[in-house]
Amino acid sequence: MADKIRVLLTEEEVDRRINEVAEEINRDYAGKAIHLICILKGGVFFTCELAKRLKVPVSMDFMSVSSYGAGTVSSGVVRIIKDLDEPLEGKDVLIVEDIIDSGRTLSYLIEVLKQRNPASIRLCTLLDKPERRVKKQVKVDYTCFAIPDEFVVGYGLDYDQKYRNLPYIGVVELDEENSTGKEAVR
Ligand code: IMP
Ligand code: MG
Repeated sequence: MADKIRVLLTEEEVDRRINEVAEEINRDYAGKAIHLICILKGGVFFTCELAKRLKVPVSMDFMSVSSYGAGTVSSGVVRIIKDLDEPLEGKDVLIVEDIIDSGRTLSYLIEVLKQRNPASIRLCTLLDKPERRVKKQVKVDYTCFAIPDEFVVGYGLDYDQKYRNLPYIGVVELDEENSTGKEAVR
């Protein structure tokens, strides 16, 4: 049976909000260049949409990480599956994520990336679930939407590698037996 997906944010709502956030970023980075770091795989749709709206010079790099999802014991340590191609020395780095949940992934990643001596490092996320935060020290500089504690898909976000391609954000109405946590590769 196909999963039921309830629309949380329409394509138009997401589009409009990305325009606003891009404008804010354009203002903040006026006169500078941005080195965008896309966190694969979930961040890829948002990164592209955001990048298209940026008017300052942009370079892009990609990183893939994994950590333990809900239902498994997390050490808070994240594995780097694919590292960046370029050094960060002296660059104004903007990390682009699909969603910040516990904050474990980003808190670890920011520490790792800081050691590579960027000029600055900021964080931009499409979605934030503030209620779920464990790592309170993670500072999110740009958030498109704060959402309730529900499992969402679409716009890059997956459930079991499905639904990344949906052009909107939806909530999966999960079968009880399929909702146990496991290691997810983003
Ligand atoms: P954190 O380390 O707990 O902040 O984990 C964030 C990562 O968990 C995100 O980058 C997503 O890959 C994944 N994640 C968290 N919540 C959701 C969700 O509602 N849908 C899909 N993936 C999610
Ligand atoms: Mg992710």
